[in-house]
Amino acid sequence: MSDPRVIVALDYPDAAGALKLASRLDPGLCRLKVGKELYTAAGPDLVEKLRRSGFAIFLDLKYHDIPTTVAGACLAAAELGVWMIDVHALGGRAMMETARAALSRRRAPPQLVAVTLLTSIGAADMKEIGLAGDPQETVVRLARLAQACGLDGVVCSAEEAEPLRRQCGTEFCLVTPGIRPAASARDDQQRVATPRQAIASGADFLVIGRPITRAPDPLAALRAVHEEIAR
Ligand code: C5P
Repeated sequence: MSDPRVIVALDYPDAAGALKLASRLDPGLCRLKVGKELYTAAGPDLVEKLRRSGFAIFLDLKYHDIPTTVAGACLAAAELGVWMIDVHALGGRAMMETARAALSRRRAPPQLVAVTLLTSIGAADMKEIGLAGDPQETVVRLARLAQACGLDGVVCSAEEAEPLRRQCGTEFCLVTPGIRPAASARDDQQRVATPRQAIASGADFLVIGRPITRAPDPLAALRAVHEEIAR
């Protein structure tokens, strides 16, 4: 498989744990997500090591700042040779357009996707921070805005994938976390979908952490996800 749809979330506090897990996986079967915890602890050096092992990297740092700062951060991330990066759609049009323009001046820029509304934010939180409307409507509105700004896609829950696929068309990339293979524990995820359900809802890429990273045999767990999708 040369274009794997599974992204394994490397949620580790240091490079050693992340590299050990990566050494047990196959870059032909998955990409890797490096988030804030691991990147803050281990930085560009780790990203370079993972890349040299052949993995495509989603650098999940969810940039949200003034346009110039975010564009600069996106360019710095592109220099690391990562495959995908993300920003917060709540950073607004100018921020997303400026990031898009900066990256588009590069040859083969990373995929640029947006986080719409964090899944940890509910209706009460929205009201408290002054966001009108219900969460689902807001997710669709922010995804449309990201698309209008030229972004390649959004990170969304599997539940949101179906309406977003309808609203944003087939070319817009949908990256879905909260995936649990049929036999896995939910951990702290509330609304989960199986790999098969997420793909059926229109997801392009599945972010999966603990069901693979904490499995006794992570490669076998990864292969089982592929089998579940193919079945
Ligand atoms: O271990 P698990 O499969 O729950 O990990 C999911 C990964 O996706 C974690 O890195 C988590 O931070 C991330 N994520 C999420 N829900 C979102 C956005 C990102 O679970 N809405």
